[in-house]
This record gives sequence, structure tokens and C-alpha cells, in this order.
Amino acid sequence: MQHSNRHIVILPGDGIGPEIMAQAESVLGRVNDVYRLGLSWEHQLLGGAAIDATGKPLPESTLRAAQNAGAVLLGAVGGPRWDQIERSIRPERGLLAIRSALGLFANLRPAMLYPQLAEASTLRPEVVSGLDLLIVRELTGGIYFGQPRGVRTLESGEREGFNTDIYRESEIRRIARVAFELARLRHRRVLSVDKANVLEVTELWREIVSDEAKKFPDVSLSHMYVDNAAMQLVRAPKQFDVIVTGNLFGDILSDEAAMLTGSIGMLPSASLDANGKGLYEPCHGSAPDIAGQDKANPLATILSVAMMLRYTFKEEQAALAIEQAVAKVLDSGLRTVDIASAGSKIIGTQAMGQAVTEAVC
Ligand code: IPM
Ligand code: MG
Repeated sequence: MQHSNRHIVILPGDGIGPEIMAQAESVLGRVNDVYRLGLSWEHQLLGGAAIDATGKPLPESTLRAAQNAGAVLLGAVGGPRWDQIERSIRPERGLLAIRSALGLFANLRPAMLYPQLAEASTLRPEVVSGLDLLIVRELTGGIYFGQPRGVRTLESGEREGFNTDIYRESEIRRIARVAFELARLRHRRVLSVDKANVLEVTELWREIVSDEAKKFPDVSLSHMYVDNAAMQLVRAPKQFDVIVTGNLFGDILSDEAAMLTGSIGMLPSASLDANGKGLYEPCHGSAPDIAGQDKANPLATILSVAMMLRYTFKEEQAALAIEQAVAKVLDSGLRTVDIASAGSKIIGTQAMGQAVTEAVC
């Protein structure tokens, strides 16, 4: 069934966000024409760009547009320019607020290695070749949102910072269900990552995930402590299929998993609500150090467009067309600098975006 709301809100954001998004938009325009998708889109402000224009990282007009859209496509937010402003209105808070306001609790971060890029990984090719895992990160709970939080001054005059790691049964159950359902489309193995030997909140996590697993007898479930999981990811990453974990551990492990594939500049992500509405964004950040230099890799954002077409708009053919166009461009030896290796031809952000756009068929 086609998604009835075919309108997309695009949030280019900060740093390299606008330049990678311009290329993603070019690819989106091309598939929209070729596959007659009937999609429309508009731009809105988020993060530092929104702070500069309105004083807030998530203006009401952006939130309203996102709530009314079928999907949201995001570049990246943040940068040193906004690091000194008050904590509650920093660019990152805008991102957290939109995830929370849209109820995007399920963050899907696939890490797969393009065979063409085996040389770009810092790990030996035999350790990573064929890598294909999916991290399912809980995105609207845990220590990122738990109350109380803050920095307070004690009677002694010393300050202390504090956060609260907290999960309800229902929050654990719904993310576990997403992981089990996705595992059914893959290799039917789920690994739940926690720190149940120390943290009560993850002791409950382990108990509830195990209970939910009973409804998925065809999917195998195992558990691992997060420190061991971090080690196993670099030791033998091909052992994993679907990894489900909480917000903070998922943040950390997904960066680690991304790097196995050679560059975080390759990895898309989807953040979904209970009805499949989603926000799609590259896993990488705003990379202010290379912003405006035509150096950034636009492929993660372009591949995020593919995920959007697949998960929200159910346009599998158009999604595949983008993924195949990316593979074709990599086959031809073109590389942005982050994924370059001996013998490849280094090109900039725009040239990469144009190459993919032209390769869509
Ligand atoms: C990510 C980012 C964000 C997060 C930051 C920018 C708030 O690191 O999407 O992984 O921690 O969730
Ligand atoms: Mg992160």
C-alpha cells in the first residue's frame, strides 16, 4: 500500500548538512521523475541554522511541518559556533526534541560493507568483507531523556552533574518487537546489548526482551554486556545480525559499527514511529571542519533517501534504484576523499552527487 501522505520535509541543518542535502535532493528529484513517485518536498530549519534565524533549535513552524509530512529528511546539526550557548537551546537539543515530539523511538542503523570499499576499512578485509548488520537503537528514552538531569551546586560549593537512565517495560517491549520483526527479514538472530551486571535498568531490559522473544520462536535471542559487544564488534563483527540496545549504548556502538565499513560517510539511518512514519538521516554529524569545501561524502544522505522510499513510502524499486546507482558509481572507481584508496579517483561532494543522479535508471 502506498503511503497516502507523499510530502517530505527536508532539514538541511548545519555544517556539511546543506551541501550533502543538495546532492540527496538531486537524486530524489531524479527518482521521483523516473519512477513517477509523486513526491513533493519543502525546506525547514533545524539546529544552529534555526537558532540563528529564530533563537530556537526546533522552531514551531518546523515541528508543525514535520508533523504534517509523510517523512522527514535531515542533514546534520551542530557546530562549534553554537557550543557556548545555553545548554537547553543547543542545536543537538533540536534534534532530540524532534525525535521525541514525533515519537521516533526506533532508530535503524545498518552497517554494511560495500565490497568495493573493503580496502577503505581500518580492519583487515577478511574480518569485514561481507559485513551486514543492523543496529536497532531505542531513541526516545533512556539516559538521553531521563529526569532528573542537570548540574547542581552542593553545599560545599562543589558542582555535580547527573542524569537518569530509565526505561519502562512498554518502551523496552516495543523496541524489542521492532528488532525481532526486522530479524525475520534478515538472518533471524537478535543480540540484545545491556549492562545487566551493574545497572538495574538494563537488568529489566534483559528480562523484558527475553519475555518478548517468546512471541518470536523462529528468531534466536542472545545477550551481551556492552563492553564485550564493543570488543566483539572489532574482533569478529560478522557474527552479528540484528543488535538491539538502549539509547546511549546504541549511540556509541553505531559509530563503532559504522567505522567497520570504512567510513561513517556511507551509512544512512531511519528513525521510525509506531506507524512507519520516519525521519531519515546520515549517521555522521555536521563535520564543521570540512563544511563548505566540497569534500563531504553525500552517499550516507543519498542512501537515507533510499531508506525513506523503502520504509515509509514502500517504493522498493525506487529504493533499489538508488542503492544500485551508488554501487555503480563505486564500481567506476569514483570516491570522495574519506573512502579513497590506492587507484581511486577522488572527487568532491557535488561531482559524487551528480554521478549518482546520472546513474539512476
Ligand atoms: C546521533 C548523534 C546524536 C545522538 C547527537 C547529535 C545528539 O550522535 O544521532 O547518533 O547522540 O543521538
Ligand atoms: Mg551518535
